[in-house]
Amino acid sequence: MSAMENRARAEPPHPQDAEPRQDKEQRYNALRAEVAAVIAGEPNLVARLASASSLIAQAFPDRFFWTGFYLVDAAKSNELVIGPYQGTLGCIRIPFDKGVCGACATRRESIIVPDVHAFPGHIACDSRSNSEIVTPVFDRAGKLVAVLDIDSTQFSAFDETDRIGLEGVCADLLTID
Ligand code: SME
Repeated sequence: MSAMENRARAEPPHPQDAEPRQDKEQRYNALRAEVAAVIAGEPNLVARLASASSLIAQAFPDRFFWTGFYLVDAAKSNELVIGPYQGTLGCIRIPFDKGVCGACATRRESIIVPDVHAFPGHIACDSRSNSEIVTPVFDRAGKLVAVLDIDSTQFSAFDETDRIGLEGVCADLLTID
């Protein structure tokens, strides 16, 4: 192995290889406006989340391998059930005490996992996923309705700019008329 290959394996990607923060923020601002415009006036939950999952996945197609929602099950309030998504087959059900999605639902806050293989209880729906971000979705009354789960084949694919951007999109999903 050459010295360069060796270095490439040993070191994480240099920050300058990642998309500049301002560009990413701009893309999230555009995404939030686009999602809001599409869902405005549509009261149906599936219509809203399906449209949002498509727009979110398409906003970062190189980085977002699986993008979708798990819904708090109306029949079992401590269990998530698969909702609208874009990507390969997702698990059908996730109890609140399992996986990154369950942890997000329990803590009611976003979770960024740089290496899913190091997260205790991570559920591998697709073995190609290496990092993940999960963000809660609340209704107007502050009730948890769903979580947005995004997986990447890259390690450490998500940062604070993603968290802030995705929380912005999620804040609108069930609150815009
Ligand atoms: N990895 C998630 C499960 C959902 S899938 O990746 C689509 C988790 O650990 O909660």
